[in-house]
Amino acid sequence: MAPILSGKRIMLGISGGIAAYKSVTLASRLTQANAMVDVIMTHSAAKFVAPVTFQAITQRSVATDTFEFWHDAGRLRIGHVALAHAADLFVIAPATAHTIARLALGLSDDLLSITALSYKGPMLLAPAMETNMWTHPATMRNVEILQDWGVDFVGPAEGRLASGEVGEGRVAEPEEIFEEACKVIGRGGPLDGLRVVITAGGTREPIDPVRFVGNHSTGKMGAALARAARDLGAETVLVHAPLAVHPPGGITLVPVHTAQQMHTAVMEELSKTDVLIGAAAVADYRPTDSSDYKLKKSPQQQVISLERTPDILHEVGSQREKSGPGPKLVIGFAAETNDLEANAVAKLKGKNLDLVVLNDVSAPDSGFAVDTNRVTLFERGGNREAWPLMSKDEVAQAIMQRVVVRLGRLDWKRSMGNSQDNLPTD
Ligand code: CTP
Repeated sequence: MAPILSGKRIMLGISGGIAAYKSVTLASRLTQANAMVDVIMTHSAAKFVAPVTFQAITQRSVATDTFEFWHDAGRLRIGHVALAHAADLFVIAPATAHTIARLALGLSDDLLSITALSYKGPMLLAPAMETNMWTHPATMRNVEILQDWGVDFVGPAEGRLASGEVGEGRVAEPEEIFEEACKVIGRGGPLDGLRVVITAGGTREPIDPVRFVGNHSTGKMGAALARAARDLGAETVLVHAPLAVHPPGGITLVPVHTAQQMHTAVMEELSKTDVLIGAAAVADYRPTDSSDYKLKKSPQQQVISLERTPDILHEVGSQREKSGPGPKLVIGFAAETNDLEANAVAKLKGKNLDLVVLNDVSAPDSGFAVDTNRVTLFERGGNREAWPLMSKDEVAQAIMQRVVVRLGRLDWKRSMGNSQDNLPTD
């Protein structure tokens, strides 16, 4: 779930392209995240998908006509224009070349363009068109104008287009637009201006080109943390070993495979990092010799000799001790099966961390490959807190809230946002 969208007002503009059908899924995702979604469709969009589809999904009226009015305390108002003034985000998906051009020119010749022109908050466009239209200097110029005004874009992607040709111009997938919408709405949040680096996934240490020493980590916890950090306005970097889940959008991904590569990537980030969270299951050992060729079986017993990998958090912790402050906060995880508390405290002290999140990976509802986690927090200074069983998303959000508190940003006032609370909810 994305609590960042809960209770938010989103204006969803749909312009006329076949990609309009994908916005049905987008409207559904936004509505399920408890956002109030008001849909405006151009007349051509309504030829591709019936307005009633969006009406049923958002459970709110859909506007297509400039001259539609809405009753408010005995008065008639041009409803959707007024609603747009209260929107926290204006998304246009798909945004055709024509719609992009009209926005860049400041035209106001239909309901969508009137509403967009009278709106002052954050705007996200998901372009969809043929490759030649997208790469045309006129469109490129219009996109630049809008970007200069602070409009965000998601996509377009490369792929199969309506014409049957393959090229750039395919609308971003609804999930990608959804993720980007969370990011844009989260901008200016309590972690604004901070860079949060998170490690995730289980590293793979090669034995030969087709085999590796690995572990059961899926990267769910790390991905959830990255999403939560992004939604609080942080510039978020996910240094990740192979993941079994989709990483969140709107963040920087640094893919790696081995512990050594993860170490190098984290060290490169370190001087720019405000908060470092080690959620990866980093292999402690790797094969001493990894073969360049696939090893063949033989009747003899095989022994793989292992050597230590670098301990990333330990190194960050000792650098902080020796040479100055480094990141403002360094957080580690302790995945344990026994002597839970003693092991967690040993990691907190031994790695010079600010906080350790202990989880009992032998419990069936906690740890690897499940959606839930039961964690206990151990903080530098002695504070410890056992949290109830929660989804990994909830654990991630609670950890990031703790980061907000520890960095003294609890009373942070959002600098963006366009909400006016004097408008009705339907
Ligand atoms: N970690 C790391 N580099 C390593 C090993 C672990 O940065 N080479 C980080 C993990 O991301 C985690 C914390 O250190 O945040 C603890 O990892 P864990 O695997 O629980 O413990 P280890 O330190 O590896 O110790 P042990 O395996 O002996 O329990």
